[in-house]
Amino acid sequence: MDKLVIEGGKTLTGKVMVAGAKNAALPLMAACLITDETLKISNVPHLSDITTMANLLVHMGVDLSIESLKEDENFQSGRVLCLTAKNISEHRAPYDIVRRMRASVIVLGPLLARFGEAEISLPGGCAIGARPIDYHLMAFEKMGAKIDLEEGYVKAKVEGGRLKGADITFPTVSVGATENVLIAATLAKGKTILRNAACEPEVGDLANMLNSMGAKITGIGTHTLEIEGVEKLHGTEYRVIADRIEAGTYLAAAGATGGDIEVVGISPDIMSSTLEVFEKMGMKIERKENSIRAISTTPLLAIKVSTQPHPGFPTDMQAQISTLMCIAEGTSIMEENIFENRFMHVPELQRLGANIVVDGNFLSITGIKNFKAAEVMATDLRASVCLILAALRAEGTTGINRVYHLDRGYERIEEKLSALGATIYRTKD
Ligand code: EPZ
Repeated sequence: MDKLVIEGGKTLTGKVMVAGAKNAALPLMAACLITDETLKISNVPHLSDITTMANLLVHMGVDLSIESLKEDENFQSGRVLCLTAKNISEHRAPYDIVRRMRASVIVLGPLLARFGEAEISLPGGCAIGARPIDYHLMAFEKMGAKIDLEEGYVKAKVEGGRLKGADITFPTVSVGATENVLIAATLAKGKTILRNAACEPEVGDLANMLNSMGAKITGIGTHTLEIEGVEKLHGTEYRVIADRIEAGTYLAAAGATGGDIEVVGISPDIMSSTLEVFEKMGMKIERKENSIRAISTTPLLAIKVSTQPHPGFPTDMQAQISTLMCIAEGTSIMEENIFENRFMHVPELQRLGANIVVDGNFLSITGIKNFKAAEVMATDLRASVCLILAALRAEGTTGINRVYHLDRGYERIEEKLSALGATIYRTKD
């Protein structure tokens, strides 16, 4: 397995191009199943999760081509995917793919809407929690699907051949359930209302793309979506929104190293809650139309942060901010409200000298002067990157093991960090 080796103490400065958002590209790709015409998606990041989704869709019979763009003078890069679900032979998402990437469950909605049946392996839990899909299944049952759970698979069938619109309220906000049902509702008979829906920018990206395919979705950007079902959707060309979590991670690297970093290719409007946290910690944030600059010249200040559904502070930035809290002056509080086990990074940060007390879904973090390098282990995608942030600051050379987690969500991270002045390289564990 790969390992990252990082020599700490360098101040990071410079510009970095933000890639397309993993959590937008995945549902956009799955949505190709909703039509027999070609979907052309650009600005797709180079990530292993994208490859997993591509493998799943090809396994089902999707005709897929990938064109890699070289980074040009406008920092445009990423991949262009053409997906055509004309000859779908499989309505099944097998366990060996779903277990590697739970986002695969998002094929359930388009398969039910277009073909009236689907068989999806239950995703199983992951490092950050049980991550059930009961909201997804509740919604599809309300829309007329019969759901059976057999041998670890969800077997769904639409009686009468076509889903029907329904008035659905999600018990708590769920990004995946909102996206899965949103795609299905575009072809359902009649009107669907989704209440307490997620309004993350990635959900908006999916809704905008579906509307460009002929769907009739209103309420985009709010917690209530209304969808008027249509007979058919056509193909379209669409560019994936920038990754606000990747951007936030690089801006956090400025805070970790007392640096000055500008992330290019993203609007500050889609991540204001994260930017406000950086400012409360004493970092200077410059907002431009298509870029954000973070400058950290004074010691970081302790703060209290709670993760919330969008537009609140995102859980996917919790580990990164926890790292900054470890070296802030004073005692900070981090409250994790979205996942039940998203503190896997804490024991690893403690190995680097952090002073953290876990109390249920709260962290009480007392600032230390600096981290001390050590061998640590990545446990999940965002935990991996918070260890990189700590290692960039730490005295000495840190080794981070099991970095395959990183490759799921961060495109060419060593390259991008080296370009900012970091001493970082990949080796075999
Ligand atoms: C999406 O996961 C993201 N993944 C996650 O990013 C992100 O952390 C999460 O949304 C929250 O923003 C993708 O978009 C591919 P949820 P998702 O459904 O859809 C509970 C990353 O690091 N819940 O919003 O799986 C669930 O257990 C990943 O990029 C139910 O109880 O998250 C959790 O506690 C990690 N029943 C909460 O809701 C359900 O049917 C939020 O989950 C569905 C969810």
